[in-house]
Amino acid sequence: MELKGTLIWICSLAVLSSTAALDETLLKNCSLHTPLLERISADLKEAVECGGNLPSAWRAEQSAELLLSLRALTDFLHIHQLKDCQNFEPKNCPEAEVHQNGGLVCVTAANKRYCKPLCNFGYDFSFLRRSRLFDECSNETGHKWVTQYIGGNRLAECIKTSSQISGAKSAYFPKDQDCLKTKSSSQLQNSTIEDFITELKNQGIQGEPQYACLTCG
Ligand SMILES: *[C@@H]1O[C@H](CO)[C@@H](O)[C@H](O)[C@H]1NC(C)=O
Ligand SMILES: *[C@@H]1O[C@H](CO)[C@@H](O)[C@H](O)[C@H]1NC(C)=O
Ligand SMILES: *[C@@H]1O[C@H](CO)[C@@H](O)[C@H](O)[C@H]1NC(C)=O
Repeated sequence: MELKGTLIWICSLAVLSSTAALDETLLKNCSLHTPLLERISADLKEAVECGGNLPSAWRAEQSAELLLSLRALTDFLHIHQLKDCQNFEPKNCPEAEVHQNGGLVCVTAANKRYCKPLCNFGYDFSFLRRSRLFDECSNETGHKWVTQYIGGNRLAECIKTSSQISGAKSAYFPKDQDCLKTKSSSQLQNSTIEDFITELKNQGIQGEPQYACLTCG
């Protein structure tokens, strides 16, 4: 019965998403229903653990509808997790855009914003950046992201590959621990951020680290 309630909730979310767009207030309202969100998470986990064993009575329409709802929910959740990196100093710097198939870990130190792009296992940077661990935005860069990649606020791109050779060793999430998996554990997230802070210090970057965050593409 719980799953039914959950599905109804997801569906109404999908309907709302198609009419009200990805609305800020909707996300706020949803955050009021923490127990509901926890239940959905648990139900979905259980469903995933069942593997591909969907009930034989499950109709094609039902599958399509569920896919539709999950897609809408995925969009909401993605936008929600981006918020973790939206408030930071220096205010004049734009937020770096996270690329797909990896993540961005960002820290502010001495009023400069530093972001380090990482790729998931099985993906590699489209540009050689072995000697370039991170990118900077500060007063000195004209409050722009100084990047070799021509994507404006996008710092990197991770493309599917069998070998990871374009970046420094620490610029890749370990196998079986992609960005989302890392972010789903406060411990793993913490150590990813702490590793970056250590790298910044090793490069002589001073200042108390602030506004640390990890976002996944
Ligand atoms: C969100 O909640 C507020 C206050 O409870 C309400 O006024 C508003 O209509 C709700 N918005 C949506 C999109 O449900
Ligand atoms: C920012 O840069 C401008 C021009 O380079 C400089 O005049 C100003 O002092 C700098 N401000 C800070 C806070 O570093
Ligand atoms: C990581 O965990 C340690 C120990 O709990 C804590 O002191 C530190 O502030 C955490 N770092 C981040 C970036 O949250």
